[in-house]
Amino acid sequence: MNRRYRKTIIAGNWKMNKTLSETRAFAEEIKDMLGRPKWCEVVLCVPYVNIPAAVRLFKESRIAIGAENCHYESHGAYTGEVSAEMLKELGVKYVIIGHSERRQYYNETDFTVNKKVHAALEAGLHPIVCVGESLEQRELGVTMELIAYQVKAALAGVPADKMRHVVIAYEPIWAIGTGKTATAEQAAEVCESIRVVIRKLYGARVARAVTIQYGGSMNAKNAAELLAQPDIDGGLIGGASLKPADFTSIVNDANQE
Ligand code: PGA
Repeated sequence: MNRRYRKTIIAGNWKMNKTLSETRAFAEEIKDMLGRPKWCEVVLCVPYVNIPAAVRLFKESRIAIGAENCHYESHGAYTGEVSAEMLKELGVKYVIIGHSERRQYYNETDFTVNKKVHAALEAGLHPIVCVGESLEQRELGVTMELIAYQVKAALAGVPADKMRHVVIAYEPIWAIGTGKTATAEQAAEVCESIRVVIRKLYGARVARAVTIQYGGSMNAKNAAELLAQPDIDGGLIGGASLKPADFTSIVNDANQE
């Protein structure tokens, strides 16, 4: 973390978990645990159907609400899809774009990820843009080149003045939901390289201000060490964000003055 230049953001990614009543129970439980974190922004990205309730329920805890995806068009004949504008009107602040599960199961490509980043920014949302390598790619030694390519493709055509709304999440695919976290050194190395890519694209001032998260089996035990790395400005947390105590513990690790 480096709070002098940029925001620390802890974001939960609930994926396809929690019904409305479970969302209510979580909000009730975390309310007393979390307090009002002063030094970091706390976000919960929840399933679409729970968004209106979540915006209301988590207001008291100052937790901002995010969506887990959006479409790249603002409206039209796209059965089953939800636009960034629709999310904005509900009070959503963040939207995860290009999560590896969406790339893997729903054929999202670097091209559609780029279009979604533009749609999110256009609607006034903060995109959390996910990039990450597979185990095969890491073993081939192409991680840095791949991540640089993913970042450049996602940000193509995004002007410098919009970059303060963009969050990047480095999520090695082999670490997601596997319990196999990247070491702090591995995570820091890639997050630093992402900042270098942004510096080359937009200059030092923009690069310094961008929040870069780590995601992939971040939990109450390993969060502090990961967050101690200067280029890791927060986390995108799946499994551990489903448990109020674990999520609170990670927020507390990030909420250091
Ligand atoms: P995990 O998921 O924390 O359960 O590994 C992270 C993510 O997919 O964003």
